[in-house]
Amino acid sequence: MQPTIIKGQATANSNTAVIISKAEDLSQLSLNSNELAYIQGKLDADKKLITLNQLSNFLFIVLSDKDGNDELESLRKKGNSIFKTLKGEDLNTVSLLDLKGCTQSTLALAEGIALSAYSFNYKTEGKEKEFALTEITVQSEVITEDQITELNHIVDSVYITRDLVNTPVDRLNATDIADFMVAQGQKDGFTTEVLNKTKIEALKFGGLLGVNKGSIDPPTFTIMEWKPENAKNTKPYVLVGKGVVFDTGGINLKTPPGSLDTMKCDMGGAASVIGTMAAIAKNKLPIHIIGLVPATDNRPGENAIVPGDILTMHNGLTVEVLNTDAEGRLIMADAISYANKYEPELVIDLATLTGSAVMAIGEYGTVGMGTASDATFAQLEADGYATHERVVRFPFWSDYDELIKSDIADIKNLGSREGGSITAGKFLAKFTNYPWIHLDIAGPSFHLKESSYRGKGGSGVGVRLLYQFFKGLSK
Ligand code: BES
Ligand code: ZN
Ligand code: ZN
Repeated sequence: MQPTIIKGQATANSNTAVIISKAEDLSQLSLNSNELAYIQGKLDADKKLITLNQLSNFLFIVLSDKDGNDELESLRKKGNSIFKTLKGEDLNTVSLLDLKGCTQSTLALAEGIALSAYSFNYKTEGKEKEFALTEITVQSEVITEDQITELNHIVDSVYITRDLVNTPVDRLNATDIADFMVAQGQKDGFTTEVLNKTKIEALKFGGLLGVNKGSIDPPTFTIMEWKPENAKNTKPYVLVGKGVVFDTGGINLKTPPGSLDTMKCDMGGAASVIGTMAAIAKNKLPIHIIGLVPATDNRPGENAIVPGDILTMHNGLTVEVLNTDAEGRLIMADAISYANKYEPELVIDLATLTGSAVMAIGEYGTVGMGTASDATFAQLEADGYATHERVVRFPFWSDYDELIKSDIADIKNLGSREGGSITAGKFLAKFTNYPWIHLDIAGPSFHLKESSYRGKGGSGVGVRLLYQFFKGLSK
């Protein structure tokens, strides 16, 4: 369960994190001379987070003497440190006292604490099962109730995304993820339509059906829609998320074996699209937006596709399969082609698409590319810095088109080793007819080791970024 963030008073003897912008702000607190001397010593030593055990409670002094994106990220990370102290001491509540008078700073600290409080496991006993941070009280002259509610909804949505990514395929197959979207839509007020295998066949989704051939579970294709009456856009925005609920590689089975261990994360794009739809609907953003999720596992079952097979895709293009582990682009292509029917204003797809993206920039950012305007990319990049879900734009030159030409079909599903995330993007581009951004989240979607407030395992990357981006578009 996520902690509830509420607006209220930081009472005496409660665990409190005080945000100050200068040492003089400390005079507003009733500290004794010993405590003041201790804090001053730490401030002189350039410490920006000072922890004081006041026996009845903990006091955290957070010095935030700057503004800007780096400072916000540093505050989220301080939130992670504070959470760890609270957890270590089995303390379930904390108050934040804003003496800096800065909405963004205090919200960033609250966000860092709340996102750190996430946990996921199937343990039946022990602290990982028992401990929960239940409440974060925010005392601030400048923060509104609405801003607190919005943050609760965002954190909730990130948790939804993380839960989905962390759930293994034995508990989340293509049907399960579709059912999840239906249930989430009922909670948050967006509509859903699930296309079953028969419908998927009727629509000639050759990529999704091809990848599904090695599986005993049927594929699903889910359409989520949020269309409030006050929507600012006339043509919808569309999100598309890769929903490979497990990627074995198929007949081109992944090697070495360790490379399979995290492949439950291969529906990270779908999870982020679901989380983003939830965040937008919970916060009732006045935009019309549609989320598409093609889902299947990729397995080397008896009738699995093999190299050399030719698939005919939703838009009629033929694809030569040269590696069954390049399955993401096959299922995404059908969904991206289907998106044309909405005549969208903009389409953003999210996919754990290539190891190449990870090789290029690691887990620290998302690889982006596409055909949207420079201004749209610039806005997304700016939102990336603001949320620290950074996007780096890769080249999308026509030269790369050469690399996915096939001798016997329109295109092949394998590019060169070099620039592999770009050739994967180029493959998807063949199915678009609208302004489009492709986000390859293979790096940041899943952390093998704990990454501050992003945690270990599913990070929920994409939700905070896209919420911020679409909030901007809804103004
Ligand atoms: N799901 C993988 C990409 C991936 C790698 C996601 C690491 C998360 C972490 C994708 O389906 C894949 O296997 N891509 C291949 C494509 C190649 C065969 C052209 C890759 O990147 O190696
Ligand atoms: Zn693969
Ligand atoms: Zn994959």
